[in-house]
Amino acid sequence: MVSRVIPVDDFDLVIFGGTGDLARRKILPGLYRRFCAGQMPAEARIIGAARSDFGTPEFRDMVRDAIHEFSEKNDCDEQKIEQFLAQLHYVTIDVMGEGGWSELKDLMRDGIVKAFYFSVAPKLFGAIAERLHLKGISDQDSRIVVEKPFGRDLETAKALNADLAAHFDETQIYRIDHYLGKETVQNLMAVRFGNILFEPLWNAQYIDHIQITVAETVGVGGRGEYYDRAGAMRDMVQNHLMQLLCLIAMEPPSKYDPDAVRDEKLKVIRALEPIAPHHIVRGQYDATDTEQSYREDAGDPKSRTESYIALRCMIANWRWANTPIYIRTGKKLKARASEIAVVFKDTPHSIFGEEAGKHANVLRIRLQPNEGMTLQVTIKEPGPGGMRLVDVPLDMSFADALGDEDDVPDAYERLIMDVIRGNQTLFMRGDEVEAAWAWTDPLINGWTARNDVPKLYDVGSAGPDDAALMLKRENRVWREIKE
Ligand code: NDP
Ligand code: BG6
Repeated sequence: MVSRVIPVDDFDLVIFGGTGDLARRKILPGLYRRFCAGQMPAEARIIGAARSDFGTPEFRDMVRDAIHEFSEKNDCDEQKIEQFLAQLHYVTIDVMGEGGWSELKDLMRDGIVKAFYFSVAPKLFGAIAERLHLKGISDQDSRIVVEKPFGRDLETAKALNADLAAHFDETQIYRIDHYLGKETVQNLMAVRFGNILFEPLWNAQYIDHIQITVAETVGVGGRGEYYDRAGAMRDMVQNHLMQLLCLIAMEPPSKYDPDAVRDEKLKVIRALEPIAPHHIVRGQYDATDTEQSYREDAGDPKSRTESYIALRCMIANWRWANTPIYIRTGKKLKARASEIAVVFKDTPHSIFGEEAGKHANVLRIRLQPNEGMTLQVTIKEPGPGGMRLVDVPLDMSFADALGDEDDVPDAYERLIMDVIRGNQTLFMRGDEVEAAWAWTDPLINGWTARNDVPKLYDVGSAGPDDAALMLKRENRVWREIKE
């Protein structure tokens, strides 16, 4: 199936930090792909801004290299790359200083969408917002895009929100969580609210528990310094996993509209109960014969930062009373596999007797890789000899069902185009981010005060044994981590 490309209005997009890692790996190759898909207007301008003393030609050279390095090979049509590069410009600006802003202002056009992507360290957000406003570069229709981490606790998130709110209205602020741009994550809403089948069963009466897993095989790579100050809780749970939890648990919004969706997500976050220490498992990957330990990767032999975390979350509302939502995420695990498994309750009475065993339906939504859905159903085991039951999957791979989705935009591409369109549905609102920190702060403060030491797990394993024990205590097991 070929995806529909709806061209967006003409725009000027300024990328502060246009020479940085995120810009080179994701933002600029993503824009190039949108250009190739025919979504970018021919007049649109992309303006890189950073301290490096580049001219536009050097910036274009850098972006050409970035496209070659980070785009799929079959995306690289040299003629198209040159056409795309012709829409790029560069301005040297130290955002803490006064130089370069008038040059930027002169480059920008009036009467079109103006967007400013803050792909720089969060400590620079306030300075950029202020100068854009004071120098008369932004206006009341301009949009700003800010990256995670959005603060490191409630206090810093509030301060960031206040810095941005001093010059921009909430309707102008786009806080990126790239998980919301993933195709299958949006599919969670389509599955829940586009089918009559699931929603009547989507509650504590029929669901035993839910498991959300985001397992990675990568370690902390070159980001050891950042990661060691963050850990899995701040890096993954406070944003990506909480967003998944919200989408799986929220009430149906009245319509698919930014505030209707975000109001419902906020209610879920606010209804999350505090978590007792025995329902939190923190882990750290340990060295093997061939792999370094987390502490070696992070460069701190005494680090107590978690590279893995598992939590038992409870939502205090009618829909989810007493229904655990177990979440876990970790680095250097046995496979890269992100999925949500909704484990339904057993039938209230078995007409087949005890020997038929217990059989629960499981809806498994695979987020990445191999996006798709599996519904485990119980049927009769074929053959004579009585009524023996067996669980089989009703399997739907989205690629098989919908064709190769090569032309489906990746998360960054989709989200940047949403900014240009002015659609905030897939971006976090300020109160959502603050509510998420208000829930995570006491957990982090709690284990810091307890001097909690993360449990070690081997690189390539499923995580620390304590995570399995946490579920075993409740007669449950984690789903296997596999691609
Ligand atoms: P980098 O350190 O690679 O890049 C930072 C960019 O900011 C560079 O272009 C740098 O260019 C520019 N910069 C630094 N100081 C100034 C200044 N005073 N004035 C103007 N420009 C400045 O960082 P990343 O690209 O990795 O990250 C950018 C943001 O995105 C961060 O907030 C990060 O947390 C977030 N993020 C990054 C991800 C990633 O995968 N990289 C993933 C998710 C979020 P120069 O030195 O020339 O000024
Ligand atoms: C980022 C985290 O936000 O998400 C990284 O900072 C993590 O630590 C990454 O690896 C995972 O994203 P994806 O899209 O590869 O699942």
